Amino acid sequence: MSQGLDDVIAAETRLSSVDGAQGVLVVKGFSLDQIAGQKPFEQVAHLLFEGLLDGLPDANTFAARLGAARAEIYPLAQYIDDALLALPPMDGVRALTARIEDGEDVTTALRLLAAPAVLLPAFLRRRRGLAPIAPNAKAGHAADMLHMLTGEVPAPEVAAALDTYLVTVADHGLNASTFAARVVASTWSGLTSSVLAGLAALKGPLHGGAPGPIIAMLDGIGKPENAESWIEDALDRGDRLMGFGHRIYKVRDPRADALKAAVKRMSGDSSVLPGRLKLAEAVERAALKVLHQRKPDRPLDVNVEFYTALLLEALGFPPDAFTAVFATGRTAGWLAHAREQRCTGRLIRPQSVYVGAEPAELV
Ligand code: CMC
Repeated sequence: MSQGLDDVIAAETRLSSVDGAQGVLVVKGFSLDQIAGQKPFEQVAHLLFEGLLDGLPDANTFAARLGAARAEIYPLAQYIDDALLALPPMDGVRALTARIEDGEDVTTALRLLAAPAVLLPAFLRRRRGLAPIAPNAKAGHAADMLHMLTGEVPAPEVAAALDTYLVTVADHGLNASTFAARVVASTWSGLTSSVLAGLAALKGPLHGGAPGPIIAMLDGIGKPENAESWIEDALDRGDRLMGFGHRIYKVRDPRADALKAAVKRMSGDSSVLPGRLKLAEAVERAALKVLHQRKPDRPLDVNVEFYTALLLEALGFPPDAFTAVFATGRTAGWLAHAREQRCTGRLIRPQSVYVGAEPAELV
């Protein structure tokens, strides 16, 4: 038996590969640095879907079909009521996504891919007492999401930063949420069910729920010179440092650098971000030093979530919405994996070792 299934290979995939020793992520034959900031999210989603969905539009019309799917999803915003608004955004998006009819076809896949980009901004606006903004089917996916959030057409470098983020997190091997999506797909439930499983698994702090608390950590530390003592205190309390450590990467998570570069590109002449970036860099240095001292045998380095927090904060998303932005990118991977599992896999049904009482002991 393997607690956490570390050494279990549970799927064969053509979608992505994570080399934890070298710190290399490959998505459908492209290394991360060949796609992050290089190809728009629509192209990467299309690349992931290729060969897995009947009737998939060609690469040239895929963006327009995704734009049309955003418009088809928008009416679901009418179901955002006060009860839903009392929930964290991730739970609100999950509840709204559950209204999408299950299916295995390309229309269902496109609607599910579109859903978080439309429903999260609508949810966040309603929470601020503002009316949701309808999608612009002709805009790029990232630019449209930001427009629906702020009501303003984003500057190209701002839209590019979100686009880079969505591409960076689009797929990542057999992570917990992707595994959950594949388990559900293996029972032939349908793509909506798989995406809901992915959303449910992603929201935990050990997976996609880390970046919100990272903002709380940066705010708590306040100044670079406080970093080391704050971190020592947190670890003394038995806390984990959010944004550090990874099950697969034993070196620096390559996605961290892709996002740090995006933060830097976006910051330009902003007066707020450079100070935040300086603080984050100081926290990173202090965390690596302290973690190395305390856990010399367990290589713990920075993971994707650390610079995610900075980037999404700079883009204007509130910290409790960060995980749902993560889901906006990762839905591409969940859908592709769910289809791959359906097309090539079998029912996933592992075994457990019974360590409870035997009937004879109970009588
Ligand atoms: N801060 C402090 N200690 C840590 C951390 C951390 N961030 N990460 C691991 N450790 C310790 C852990 O407490 C354990 O110590 P001990 O052996 O004394 O109990 C040791 O290192 C080994 O940890 P593990 O729990 O066996 O490692 P894992 O592979 O199960 O955990 C992880 C991976 C990401 C859940 C973990 O590193 C963690 O909790 N990190 C903080 C949360 C976080 O940043 N999550 C986002 C993950 S990246 C997004 C994604 O791809 O999903």
